[in-house]
Amino acid sequence: ISSAQSFVPEHASIEGLRLAASKCQGCSLCRSATQTVFGHGPATASVVLIGEQPGDQEDVTGKPFVGPAGQLLREELMSVGIDPESVYMTNAVKHFKFTRSSKRRLHKKPSAREVAACRPWLEAELKRIKPAQILCLGATAASAIHGPNFRLTQQRGAFISTRFADQTFATYHPSAILRAEQTSAQNETASQIRDLFHRDLKAF
Ligand code: URA
Ligand code: SF4
Repeated sequence: ISSAQSFVPEHASIEGLRLAASKCQGCSLCRSATQTVFGHGPATASVVLIGEQPGDQEDVTGKPFVGPAGQLLREELMSVGIDPESVYMTNAVKHFKFTRSSKRRLHKKPSAREVAACRPWLEAELKRIKPAQILCLGATAASAIHGPNFRLTQQRGAFISTRFADQTFATYHPSAILRAEQTSAQNETASQIRDLFHRDLKAF
């Protein structure tokens, strides 16, 4: 069974974890992606934000949330008074999964097995940082923390206590807004999701 577990050093700092994760071969995603995109931000952060997996630009730069979804996220965080630089940002899966269509690389959702394989990194990050609050973006992040029975549409926007943090909170993924915007018939849906996303972040 494939897992990152054997690559995770037990007593390492966040920087030690980052170095070890750069060599992870815990699942097959490391073969096609450019590099591991580990979490980024202060190791003393009181908020850890969890996304799904790096996108194209994150894969190239090695930093989470620097592409279009990241820009939207950073704007929305600032609009509710949260400094994006004060947050430790990471992902449920640390390598970019994609399919090629002509010259573009298109995001492909990670499987439950890949999320499970990568989870030791997320657990190690959370154990080091011990945040007061965790913000999960989207169903993949939320189920990495809460398990497969979590239903984002029903349980988003509320604080739940977990073994990882006293206040764990889930909302939509900013990519859901971008995806809905790209489907012109769904412009209304896009603004609805954006409103809910904004309202959730305000409540967080
Ligand atoms: N989407 C994510 O979930 N994470 C990133 O780092 C970028 C886009
Ligand atoms: Fe390791 Fe996670 Fe990358 Fe798979 S996705 S190789 S488990 S870091």
